Amino acid sequence: MDKFIIEGGIPLNGEVHISGSKNAALPILCSSILADDICTYTNIPALRDISTITEVLSTLGMGIERPCNGCIVIDPRTTSSYEAPYELVKSMRASILVLGPLLAKYKKAKVSLPGGCAIGVRPIDMHLKALTKMGANITLSHGYVMAFTEGLKGTRIVFDTPTVGGTENIMMAASLAEGTTVIEGAAKEPEVVDLAYALIAMGAQIDGAGQSTITIDGTPSLSGLEYRVIPDRIEVGTFLIAGAITKGDLILKDARADHVVAVVDKLLEMGVAINQREDGSLHVDGKHDLLPVQVDTVPYPGFPTDMQAQIMALACITPGTTSITENIFENRFMHVPELVRLGGRLEEKGHTVIVQGVEQFQGASVMATDLRASASLVLAALNARGLTEIRRIYHLDRGYENLDQKLVKLGARVRRERGGL
Ligand code: UD1
Repeated sequence: MDKFIIEGGIPLNGEVHISGSKNAALPILCSSILADDICTYTNIPALRDISTITEVLSTLGMGIERPCNGCIVIDPRTTSSYEAPYELVKSMRASILVLGPLLAKYKKAKVSLPGGCAIGVRPIDMHLKALTKMGANITLSHGYVMAFTEGLKGTRIVFDTPTVGGTENIMMAASLAEGTTVIEGAAKEPEVVDLAYALIAMGAQIDGAGQSTITIDGTPSLSGLEYRVIPDRIEVGTFLIAGAITKGDLILKDARADHVVAVVDKLLEMGVAINQREDGSLHVDGKHDLLPVQVDTVPYPGFPTDMQAQIMALACITPGTTSITENIFENRFMHVPELVRLGGRLEEKGHTVIVQGVEQFQGASVMATDLRASASLVLAALNARGLTEIRRIYHLDRGYENLDQKLVKLGARVRRERGGL
């Protein structure tokens, strides 16, 4: 397993290009199942999760080509299997997103129950209930979701909690269902909106994506498309914090400022100077004194759970007391003991972590536990005095494209050691 060796304490400077969004690309690639013709996607990041989902699609018999960097061409016309096997699904929860499209297009699906990040129990009950209400017959057997239907029908779906994956699965299924589906309590995340735009480009009739009620009028067939995926807002947030935590000066190119408003507002409140330049890029200047704040993770447009670990790293070197509450997932504080190993002063109290600021992290040996937790350790290591060794960075490789190379270009001393434990 690869590890990072990071020598910290160096301010990062320069320009970094933000990659395409993993969490937008995953459902969009799955939506190609619905199409009757070739689908061409650009701005797809080169990540392990993306390879996993293309492997799932390839297992279904779909043709996959990568004619250039960042593009994937999918031919759905050769689909011949309706099963997403455990070996592929276990490493990535997003594979459940093939369920809705397979059911809608082929009226049957067998999808392994998902694994993915170890951040608490992450059920898919809301996906299954909604598909059942649309006319699917679903059973769980030997770790698999077995589903068939005589034809999905539009209906009213109410989500008590907004679910990103659930909204995406139902939006895809409803695009080919008979009649009108109304999703109430829908997730409003930019990735949901991006999927809606991709489906609309295929001919789907969707209204209200980005709001809490989405209306989908089913159509009998969907065409191929050419589509460019949005930039990764979590990568944007992570680099903004990299600028702040190293007292650096960074320009983030190809970012979407409108997707990171809550994160930017919170960082401004902490005293980090951020502004949007005329060309749309974001400039972060980390040379100002930091102030303690209170952070609560909430569904979009609030502060994202996927940035909780990273802002916690920044809070660790912020004078005073910062309180961070995780409201979306259980067990999403696995980075806390690792940040303590790096010299952070943190105390877990239920869903809240109280952070007392220290002057600087100190290098140590730590272990990455999940995707965003790993990012917080990298950020802490970039700030730390001395050397930090981060093991199991395969978690990072699932979600950040060329992170080590991007950091090195900005002046960081990051070395990837291949192999070992
Ligand atoms: C997606 C993102 C993930 C992000 C999360 C919240 C992808 C691939 N993943 O995950 O990075 O952290 O949104 O913004 O885009 N829930 C249920 N039953 C369900 C579905 C969800 O109880 O059937 C609960 C979950 O346990 C959680 C909450 O609802 O507490 C939100 O989950 P959801 O939005 O579905 O997250 P994901 O789609 O898995």
